Amino acid sequence: MKTRITELLGIDAPLILPGMSWISTPQLVAAVSNAGGLGILASGPLTPEETRASIREIRELTDKPFGVGVTLLMPGAKENAMIALEEKVPVINFSLGKGDWLVKKAHEYGGKVIATVVSEKHALSAQSIGADALLVTGHEAAAHGGDVTSLVLVPSIASKVDIPVIATGGFADARGLMAALSLGAEAVAMGSRFATSADSPLHNHVKETVVKKSEQESTLKTSMVSGPE
Ligand SMILES: Cc1cc2nc3c(=O)[nH]c(=O)nc-3n(C[C@H](O)[C@H](O)[C@H](O)COP(=O)(O)O)c2cc1C
Repeated sequence: MKTRITELLGIDAPLILPGMSWISTPQLVAAVSNAGGLGILASGPLTPEETRASIREIRELTDKPFGVGVTLLMPGAKENAMIALEEKVPVINFSLGKGDWLVKKAHEYGGKVIATVVSEKHALSAQSIGADALLVTGHEAAAHGGDVTSLVLVPSIASKVDIPVIATGGFADARGLMAALSLGAEAVAMGSRFATSADSPLHNHVKETVVKKSEQESTLKTSMVSGPE
């Protein structure tokens, strides 16, 4: 399937592994990229040295495009972003911070930049600084989403920007991909789905627990990430 996202990122399928701390490791990133999607390494828990080593490990496991995710608000994130730029990583995904400098430096070597956003305001701002695509994160992405559900947020942003949108939060299979395409997105990023896949480093007990949850229990909010309510 071809969309503006597959063309932009040079991938075969409009499926993205988002950067999930301790889960989006080199093995899983490479597995997703080798399968035709785009794997994004989570640099959050990594030191700059570990980020560089992980990028090089991914390059040993795949010759396909991949990305590195940086949560700019977190300590050490800018240093990790600098490593990703030095290593000329094909795709940089940034969230929670000003990414204009990242866009400029990535574009110098032909890299692409995806901005993670949870509101129209931030979507328009990311577009204005030259981001190549948006990772639009709905409420279903648990602590990582905003207040607005994917069903409302994705079409709302997709109809206001010119750059392509990747939908995330609640998408986990072909039905979800079709729904996202209908809403105006051109790819989906699947967190929980890839986290429970065979190549994920999570323990099997955790994978089974997640898969067995009912729809009432499927989104878990933790104050560790989103703060007390
Ligand atoms: C276990 C887990 C860890 C995650 N870690 C991060 C993270 O470190 N940084 C981040 O930006 N998003 C993180 N996310 C959110 C995902 O990037 C994505 O927004 C979310 O999983 C999408 O919703 P879905 O699980 O319904 O596909 C995490 C998600 C999960 C399930």
